[in-house]
Amino acid sequence: MPSGPTGTRPDWQRTHTCGALRGTDEGASVVLNGWVASRRDLGGIYFLDLRDRYGITQIVVEEELAGTVQVGPEWVLAVHGTVRSRGTNVNTDRATGEVEVVATKIDVLSESPTPPIEIIDDLDTAVETRLRWRFLDLRRAPLQRNMIHRSRFINAMRRAFESREFVEIETPLLTKATPEGARDYLVPSRVHPGSFYALPQSPQIFKQILMVSGYDRYFQVARCFRDEDLRADRQPDFTQLDMEMSFVNEEDVFATWEGVLVETFKDAMGVEIETPFPRMTYHEAMERYGSDKPDVRFGLELRDAHEWALASSFVVFKSVAESEGGRVKGLTVPGGASMSRKEIEALEVVAKEYGAKGLAWWKAGSDGGAGPLARFCKAPEEGGVAPAVALMETMEAGDGDLCLFVAADGATVHKALGALRLHLGKQLGLFEESLTNFRFTWVTDFPMFERDENTGKWVSLHHPFTAPSDESFETPMGEMPSRAYDLCLNGWELGSGSIRIHRQDVQEKIFELLEMGSEEQRAKFGFLLDALEYGAPPHGGFAIGLDRLVALTLGLDNIRDVIAFPKTTRAADLFCGAPAPVDPAQLADVHVRCELPARAAASEQDPAETSA
Ligand code: AMO
Ligand code: AMP
Repeated sequence: MPSGPTGTRPDWQRTHTCGALRGTDEGASVVLNGWVASRRDLGGIYFLDLRDRYGITQIVVEEELAGTVQVGPEWVLAVHGTVRSRGTNVNTDRATGEVEVVATKIDVLSESPTPPIEIIDDLDTAVETRLRWRFLDLRRAPLQRNMIHRSRFINAMRRAFESREFVEIETPLLTKATPEGARDYLVPSRVHPGSFYALPQSPQIFKQILMVSGYDRYFQVARCFRDEDLRADRQPDFTQLDMEMSFVNEEDVFATWEGVLVETFKDAMGVEIETPFPRMTYHEAMERYGSDKPDVRFGLELRDAHEWALASSFVVFKSVAESEGGRVKGLTVPGGASMSRKEIEALEVVAKEYGAKGLAWWKAGSDGGAGPLARFCKAPEEGGVAPAVALMETMEAGDGDLCLFVAADGATVHKALGALRLHLGKQLGLFEESLTNFRFTWVTDFPMFERDENTGKWVSLHHPFTAPSDESFETPMGEMPSRAYDLCLNGWELGSGSIRIHRQDVQEKIFELLEMGSEEQRAKFGFLLDALEYGAPPHGGFAIGLDRLVALTLGLDNIRDVIAFPKTTRAADLFCGAPAPVDPAQLADVHVRCELPARAAASEQDPAETSA
């Protein structure tokens, strides 16, 4: 590779990027650096597309030079040459399309074998292969755009917080468990045999302690680690924009975030978003949308058919409605009566996937309609409102509409109908999927506790540092309201926060309700309880999932595509091969001996046997 003496600019260094040249540069002598995106041979001459992250420029290698230089796909070149107009032969698909560079000299800076994945925009290759060759995948323009957008977004957000006098403070990664509902990633200590650090699930406790320390407005671009079931919107290590404020209530936190998001969207993508964001209680979100992260881009709201079911002669509905906790709800698909039996059966499959025993359907009609419910909708023998009319009123349905019902316990009804609603919204194209249609919603008044599905024990719905709305503790645990709130965007939970407990006695009481004895409280959270004793200001805060926000603002449905080196759904990094077995000596250093389950021992923890 050619190199200049120290202190001088080597002559192979670019004068322009591959995205810079325009018609007005005609005649200029330039040097471009980049990767060979493609090569087309045409008799004795050839054309190259030279690519870098700024764009692509066409290079013409004419006969004399063509015979002397070898180039292959993805080789790194320095091309010296002169800018020439392409005349009427403009390539309107690219910014540099008015010109080409006629090469006078080519330096090969680096060679490459033919890459195992193509560096093209519409790559149709298995995700596992893309992740295995991530450094090549990241060379593709769509991923480069994602990464650059992410950087812009984060920096815009930083500026917005800084301009509001927030102080960016880093909190430790080698720390003690911070419970956010997942398992911890543990790191063994060498100097404290048998002791472990936990990687933080969030900076929650430290940011509260910073409030006690008087920092009053904190933020951080924070890496968080959670060992939990992974899916499209969850990675084991991910990033939050985390913040906390003192002397505030919910309104201050909402107003701060609305201001920050307006500024960030404008700054990073030129999009105006409307504020204030609409608000909805948790109860209302569940009742109307069957979800605590409602997608409010479309209607199709759930309706309560409980009264109708109680009065009906349909035994399935009536018996569920009469049972404790039983609910009968449905949704009305406008014009849905034209759906075929097969289409409706496909909807039943969706409802059943989410726990429903069945999906009763009714093509609405004052004459009794059609479908399995029709025979229970016939006009009564003598007077009174016909069940058909009553059901149409209940469901706000008219002739030609389709009503779909689930009868079960409340949680199942909401889960199944909530999922069905989203499915129908997509299937019927009920909302505009565009990069300007951002519908935020604050969801408030979450319950303090919920029962763990596996153990049946009460656990915090948000986290145990969230303040109860009522500190008298007279309400039963299942109904105790909290000061927790979420921010939802287009059906995703974007972020969570709460007003916190700032009194030691209240914090201890919550730990007690969670069946944590005082010894365990001291062992796990003694440092927080101590801090709460020494002048803790009232405080509250919030954290958004940056990966989710960035993905949503790019119209992506998997956060993997906005993370440079993501992991598979089995928490493996296929590129670097993490996790991996370590040297026995290293294990001995940290006083760890492995006892593997039979199956894992056989596969030697091979992260490659994973799916993305
Ligand atoms: P929470 O646990 O709700 O709250 O997390 C806040 C936001 O972080 C994002 N998030 C994730 N993103 C990607 N992968 C994951 N595995 C993952 N888990 C969470 C979500 C979520 O809304 N300390 C509290 C915040 C607070 O109370 O201030 C907390 O962490 O977008
Ligand atoms: P059956 O009387 O069991 O044949 O059910 C009649 C209709 O009611 C079918 O369309 C079933 O899918 C539906 N169905 C059965 N159980 C339920 C339920 N729990 N909730 C909603 N629909 C149901």
